[in-house]
Amino acid sequence: MVPGESRLLTFAALGDLHVHEDRPSRLRELFLEVSDKAAVLVLCGDLTELGKPRQAKILAEDLRACSIPVIGVLGNHDYESDQVEEIKNILKATGMHLLDGQSFKFGDVAFIGVKGFMGGFGPRMLAPFGEAVVKSFAAESVHEAIRLENAMRAVQCERAVVVLHYAPVFATVEGEPPEILPFLGSSRLGETIDRFKASAVVHGHAHHGRYEGRTPGGAPVYNVAFPINKPTGRPYALITV
Ligand SMILES: [Fe+2]
Ligand SMILES: [Fe+2]
Repeated sequence: MVPGESRLLTFAALGDLHVHEDRPSRLRELFLEVSDKAAVLVLCGDLTELGKPRQAKILAEDLRACSIPVIGVLGNHDYESDQVEEIKNILKATGMHLLDGQSFKFGDVAFIGVKGFMGGFGPRMLAPFGEAVVKSFAAESVHEAIRLENAMRAVQCERAVVVLHYAPVFATVEGEPPEILPFLGSSRLGETIDRFKASAVVHGHAHHGRYEGRTPGGAPVYNVAFPINKPTGRPYALITV
């Protein structure tokens, strides 16, 4: 390798596992498979169906089959039972790098993760206007974008991969029912990403959206929610940066 030349890195990305104690999990085989094909596994939230510690423990057991580093963010479903700290502790005990406004460096690639939030896209994004509850809803979206901005600013790596649960652009939620589009993500995340250089952005949450899009600034965005059709023909995407 020429000095100063970066080595390419292939990571596997997958979101919306929705692990449920009443359904048999087939993730163990999947984690074994990705361990052979990628250097890192990235999980894009909704790791559990209802945010129950029991569900996180089932996932934690399956994650032991994964022999590569695992990085991830939580999704809205992981918050449902108000037991987020316990969920985090169970997953971190497997060695998983759970990101919530931080980054994890693998070689010379930085993975930067936040959950993100909803609020809609483009000029029709929800504005902090009117009732107090609307202002606090919009503020949550701004707050997550600021946390992403702070985490991206702190990163010194030449290559950065942004890991989200909510979508940062409209392109990868297109195809979902129009009634729910504003609940699938926020352009504020995409605007933040475009202030920096991102080699790739991965997210989940939009189960019926599209695999591929770009931020207005040109950063590639991949919706890796479990049901999304991907070029691999498998539930996970393989992305090289
Ligand atoms: Fe989901
Ligand atoms: Fe979700």
